[in-house]
Amino acid sequence: MEFGLTEEHIMIRDAARDFAKQELLPGVTERDDKGIYPAEQIKKMSEMGFMGMMVDPKYGGGGMDTLSYSLAVEEISKIDAAAAVVMSVNNSLVCWGIERFGTEDQKQNYLVPMATGTVIGGFCLSEPEAGSDATKQRTTAVLKGDHYVMNGTKNWITSAAHAQYFIVIAATAPELGHKGISAFIVDRNWAGFELGPKENKMGMRASDTHSIMFNDMKVPVENRIGDEGFGFKLAMSILSGGRIGIASQALGIAQGALDLAVQYSKERKAFGKFLHEHQSVAFKLADMELEIQAARLIVHKSCWLKDEHHPDLNHFSAMAKLKAAETAMHVTTEAVQIHGGYGYVKEYHVERLMREAKLTQIYEGTSEVQKIVISRNLIG
Ligand code: CAA
Repeated sequence: MEFGLTEEHIMIRDAARDFAKQELLPGVTERDDKGIYPAEQIKKMSEMGFMGMMVDPKYGGGGMDTLSYSLAVEEISKIDAAAAVVMSVNNSLVCWGIERFGTEDQKQNYLVPMATGTVIGGFCLSEPEAGSDATKQRTTAVLKGDHYVMNGTKNWITSAAHAQYFIVIAATAPELGHKGISAFIVDRNWAGFELGPKENKMGMRASDTHSIMFNDMKVPVENRIGDEGFGFKLAMSILSGGRIGIASQALGIAQGALDLAVQYSKERKAFGKFLHEHQSVAFKLADMELEIQAARLIVHKSCWLKDEHHPDLNHFSAMAKLKAAETAMHVTTEAVQIHGGYGYVKEYHVERLMREAKLTQIYEGTSEVQKIVISRNLIG
């Protein structure tokens, strides 16, 4: 059993760490405050190869393993989780989905531009009435000769205002339940694509989240991914691996908060002692470190399982996301507490990290969804 990082992993982690400090830290508070999408920063992340890290180099990607990707997402998330979610959705939902299940033409036409970061992608599964219960798709795609006609509304779409291409899950045979769901690649420039209003979110305010409406949008048959009826399994399979991205993000948020709490506890004095000299604070720091290290082990194991195409991936990635998200919520809350009043104001970043942590318990499957997956796997 090998727990160490290779030289290449360390190089990627450090490159992401330096990038985050130099390019993302300045302006992160303002972008969050005003809900400004990090367009320039995402462009630089694309130039550094962060948008298609695991994609085969023959499709313009970095050909890296999942651990490299996880380390990079963690480092970016320590500083700017909103930029990290754009990266995570592009890499592990959209690029991975098309590389794994798409045709050669779909790869050439859509994967290559997204893996190189020329454009970015979005993933449309959730709907107003289909969140955790993703089988209840109301968006329909009706076959009419050489194309489908798509109608419906998708909710909570990350990068909706900036992504060029989207994987869209829609019902092609609603009477068949989840077996009547299919997946498509759509282009925002097509007639019938309508962007809904921007969500005014609690956290991750710089990543733009909107609903998207499809109004009689014509989708060519060749843009269906996989067979008709394969869409639900495709979405579940994408999310199995994709949850590693959000777990890595949650780890980064937690680690970022712990780093700030440690630093603050060494600078701030109360009752004649540095904060870390008070056992009440030292014990909190120890608990935070323990939780993060435990979560990281499950996240890194999930990375390995994904690269091995191991059947346990679904079980472990659900545990990785659950453990990392719960850890992020707890650790960031404790970090705010250690900072006292300063934790509640923006200059010290921990209040933002706490708001960001909350979303990791909700998107790409709530903590409750992860528990459904884990318990079903256990019970069989
Ligand atoms: N891989 C492949 N197939 C899978 C699978 C997986 N990981 N998980 C389930 N399936 C298959 C099952 O085998 C089953 O197939 P059969 O009928 O042929 O046996 C089929 O899918 C249905 O499975 P279930 O009965 O388990 O499905 P369910 O309706 O009970 O749902 C669920 C289970 C886990 C709750 C699922 O609905 C789910 O994950 N919901 C949450 C959806 C989600 O994460 N939404 C977030 C959207 S993405 C997002 O947030 C993007 C963003 O922008 C950040």
